Amino acid sequence: MQSLQEKAAEWSGVETTLAFAIDDDGGGANLFQKLGLQTFINLSTNFYNRVYNDEEEWFRSIFGKSKKEEAIQNQYEFLVQRMGGPILYSQRRGHPALIARHGAFDVTHEAAERWLHHMQQALDTTSDIDDDSKIKLINFFRHTAYFLVVGVESRNQNQMPCKNASGSHPCK
Ligand code: HEM
Repeated sequence: MQSLQEKAAEWSGVETTLAFAIDDDGGGANLFQKLGLQTFINLSTNFYNRVYNDEEEWFRSIFGKSKKEEAIQNQYEFLVQRMGGPILYSQRRGHPALIARHGAFDVTHEAAERWLHHMQQALDTTSDIDDDSKIKLINFFRHTAYFLVVGVESRNQNQMPCKNASGSHPCK
């Protein structure tokens, strides 16, 4: 059976090794050292400003129960930690457990593409992100977005075995 990461690679079109090029510092600085805290704050702010102003109501409403300021903080603390910086996110929120934390949201293919659309625009309009970092980040985001699509789908299927059950299903 395909692993979640293999499936995420297939669905996203981004090989797993390419997605984790964020960890390959090429002997130089990691992405946190290269870009710094303020850039990640700016990127997350830029991204969530777009999400919360999205003209597509179906997408905006996925975030309807979250406060924008908190979403921004969650996002940049996670990114700082994941890119090799201080573990701000886990100190405050615990293990990222991204699949579990996204379980309540409609993380569909369409939502992943919309999320990535806003993130691509945020990357393109946040200053001080060089092209190489931009490519590494979008590959990581694309693979992770589909990792969440695959992961949430299979998690919900396992948790709700009766969802698609026929009348003769033993759960009934
Ligand atoms: C949180 C949706 C992809 C990382 C959230 C929240 C929503 C959401 C609604 C709650 C906002 C909050 O209160 O923080 C989605 C959708 C995605 C997606 C629809 C489409 C695929 C991603 C990706 C990443 C990510 C690709 C990472 C690369 C996070 C993090 C949080 C979060 C770190 C904060 C979790 C917490 O601390 O509760 N997401 N997300 N998300 N998302 Fe996503």
